[in-house]
Amino acid sequence: MTRDCDNTLPRTFNDRHQLYEWSVQVPVFEVQFMNRIFHQLRKRRPLHLREDFCGTAYLCAAWVRSHRQRTAVGLDLDAETLAWGQARHIDRLGPASTRVALRRCDVRTVTIPPADIVCAYNFSWFMVHPLQQLVDYFRQVRASLAPDGLVFLDCYGGWEAQQESYEPRLVETPEGMFTYTWEQASYNPIDNLARCHIHFELAGGYELKKAFTYEWRLYTPAEARDALLAAGFADCHVYFDTSPDPDEDRYRRTTRARNQPGWLAYIVGVA
Ligand SMILES: C[S@@+](CC[C@H](N)C(=O)[O-])C[C@H]1O[C@@H](n2cnc3c(N)ncnc32)[C@H](O)[C@@H]1O
Repeated sequence: MTRDCDNTLPRTFNDRHQLYEWSVQVPVFEVQFMNRIFHQLRKRRPLHLREDFCGTAYLCAAWVRSHRQRTAVGLDLDAETLAWGQARHIDRLGPASTRVALRRCDVRTVTIPPADIVCAYNFSWFMVHPLQQLVDYFRQVRASLAPDGLVFLDCYGGWEAQQESYEPRLVETPEGMFTYTWEQASYNPIDNLARCHIHFELAGGYELKKAFTYEWRLYTPAEARDALLAAGFADCHVYFDTSPDPDEDRYRRTTRARNQPGWLAYIVGVA
């Protein structure tokens, strides 16, 4: 039986933002990864983060928690999502909340002060297309970075990413279990645009169908590199997940990778 969510469920189980965070976000990992790579390349500690497409700003909160001098600005277009993140993550930081600012605006914006890092995660930068718009976006990012700043993007690909797919996965939380499903509903080989949905299935037959929908272009690392260089970045590195175990991540900087059905990578643009 399929039923819409109602208020007989625990509150968080009616909450698509909470379900999304439980399903796909591990901000502590992202902070550690950015810290490690920035330190390797720049030999100093990054302090100011700009999180593009920040959504609920879960990552901004983890960033300022990770060091007392750290500051963050999160940019997103959606007022309701930003308000949820402000209440859930930023206001709960206590005095550190003054080190985070959430701004409702397009990411194609130049921000000050210059950021050590700009990041765009969960493939959000795929929403900027066609390619010329991506170059324009990267120009705004470049202009918002410190002279030695870095931009971090994540990317997925492989031939399975060019197919329709329906991938349910069980998620365990302190409040119970639910099923998260990633559906790639369509893929157009002419323009590389994919339409994707996130669905949640909860205990008792409750469902949140199409809790989130994205229409985006499956860019490749080669296209990201070309766009970053066209936007004025000096270089671009790819960190490919080389772990044979799908439950473990092992991102290594490389210029060659084994072709495979599905893969994940980080792309780092060097200002
Ligand atoms: C996939 S969610 C990403 C959330 C978060 N960054 C993460 O890692 O899970 C995409 C977000 O991008 C926002 N968005 C889409 N286009 C945007 C734009 N041009 N400028 C700013 N935000 C945008 C949407 O409102 C949505 O909150």
